[in-house]
Amino acid sequence: MCGIVAATANRNIVPVLIEGLRRLEYRGYDSCGVAVLRQGELVRARTTSRVIDLAEQTTQLDSTLGIAHTRWATHGKPDNINAHPHTSHNLIALVHNGIIENYEALRQPLLEAGYIFVSQTDTEVIVHLVHQAYTGAQKGNLFAAVQAVRARLRGAYAIAVIARDQAHRVVGARAGSPLVVGLGEDAHYLASDALAISASSNQMRYLEEGDVVEITPDTCTIVDHANRLVDRPLCKVNVHHQSAELLPYRHYMQKEIFEQPQAIANTIEGIEGIDSDLFGANAKTIFMGVERVLILACGTSYYAGCTAKYWLEAQAKLPTQVEIASEYRYRDTVPDPATLIVVVSQSGETADTLAALRHAKALGHQKTLAICNVHSSTMLRETALSFMTRAGVEIGVASTKAFTTQLVVLYLLTLTLAKARGLLSATAEAQAVAALRHLPTALQAVLALEPTLIAWAQEFATKDNALFLGRGLHYPIAQEGALKLKEISYIHAEAYAAGELKHGPLALVTERMPVVTVAPNNILLEKLKSNMQEVRARGGVLYVCSDIDGHIKESEGIHVLHLPAHYGALSPILHVVPLQLLAYHTACVRGTDVDKPRNLAKSVTVE
Ligand code: M6R
Repeated sequence: MCGIVAATANRNIVPVLIEGLRRLEYRGYDSCGVAVLRQGELVRARTTSRVIDLAEQTTQLDSTLGIAHTRWATHGKPDNINAHPHTSHNLIALVHNGIIENYEALRQPLLEAGYIFVSQTDTEVIVHLVHQAYTGAQKGNLFAAVQAVRARLRGAYAIAVIARDQAHRVVGARAGSPLVVGLGEDAHYLASDALAISASSNQMRYLEEGDVVEITPDTCTIVDHANRLVDRPLCKVNVHHQSAELLPYRHYMQKEIFEQPQAIANTIEGIEGIDSDLFGANAKTIFMGVERVLILACGTSYYAGCTAKYWLEAQAKLPTQVEIASEYRYRDTVPDPATLIVVVSQSGETADTLAALRHAKALGHQKTLAICNVHSSTMLRETALSFMTRAGVEIGVASTKAFTTQLVVLYLLTLTLAKARGLLSATAEAQAVAALRHLPTALQAVLALEPTLIAWAQEFATKDNALFLGRGLHYPIAQEGALKLKEISYIHAEAYAAGELKHGPLALVTERMPVVTVAPNNILLEKLKSNMQEVRARGGVLYVCSDIDGHIKESEGIHVLHLPAHYGALSPILHVVPLQLLAYHTACVRGTDVDKPRNLAKSVTVE
């Protein structure tokens, strides 16, 4: 987590740093800060407020060299002292994204050498180490000093460093956290994400693991993990500026919920039929021997995987396991080379998912597929096959359009594997593709139900707890609904497979407990109705998301939202939308920071 941006140019770069931070706030927003070189001195500004306040603090500042940071706190609380950039002897300033695992071991010798630590961060060891190398063995060579320090660091990190006596130079390094170099006119930039610097550059070089880079306004020099000079390809990156703008919406989350029909249309654009090639040139060969599927993911992406398990087992007849990436990576498993490993991740940078993928590969798994939304992400580069969701930039911390597009791709994967196994007839294929193509229109009809969700949100906003129920394919949707509500409204919410209610959670149900029930008109509806009766009998108030052809009627204590007619296997993609809107409007009533909920960050690049 955390976002870093740095710039060196022949003109004032402070606006570039501030705009970069504004665009990187999705990576963390506990504090932010800049350090620039001005009249031969390092000048720092830091705040625990948002970037907009930092912008006000720095209106008078101009400089041709600087680094900036937006923080998601790991070591040390979110205060000004722990805010980046960190400095050493007013000579070196440094920003850092990631975690230095051996910082305690590195700290002791620095203390013995007389270095004074003022923060609780792991970062401060790096800045002092760079200072020690720069003023010692590396004799004023910042590039060499960072290379020397890099060899001593353990963990995942990206850093950017400047020195008071190096008027045009920024040095960066990447190991486990992303870092991209942007080429501008008489300028070079570094950032955690191309989006941060896309207003100033569309020519980027993505650094690889272990790289150290030195930029000046006119030069960019990169060495790899063994300090060999290397060239990283120059890529043209077009990040649409508009996608970072709010336009008429109140929050990015609301905008992104309403973008879902377009995001899905973009994701399936050009797909006329089911073909292995959708997943990569050699997908056919890789899919041929697949006998089981293991999906690895975190958070919302994990729930997308849980939904796909129902599809893959029912339609492709492939035993499917879905595992939380942070669990899988440390578990003794029984690897089977006939398993297709599928990593699902909006960012493609989630540390746990990436580590789980690497763990699977180390165990010998070669059939790997990434489903990601960021085309430059590490995960896409490390799998044999890939499929990009085309949801567009997702800024809100609560994932919405990334989730529904992931579901679309996982459904395409199901159809592809079913076809490869001779389990998809031509008629079934045509019907499935038609249903996918009609999905954006069907979603528009669900979005039109927003006024009912606004009314429900008034009730939810007064509650401390909520239960979500679902069965089968819609149980993961109930889980996703509960995650959305707790994440942005801070209401404690739990999801249960509705049949489990009587095995314990029913004890929680009173007239103060709202119970959201995902109740599509499928074969489990009658069973679910019995579970709803169990709730009503205990005074629980039901909020039911049903289909119009399910014929569930409103009555005392039972509020019903009627979605359009049941949408078959793709129904979860429609049924999650009311839950997103309910969470969103509940958060709005409670006045929380919807796009930047407390303690969270969009991209979770630490363990
Ligand atoms: O980028 P990823 O999809 O790998 O992120 C995984 C989770 O961190 C993410 O889905 C998180 O749970 C969201 N904040 C949920 O809305």
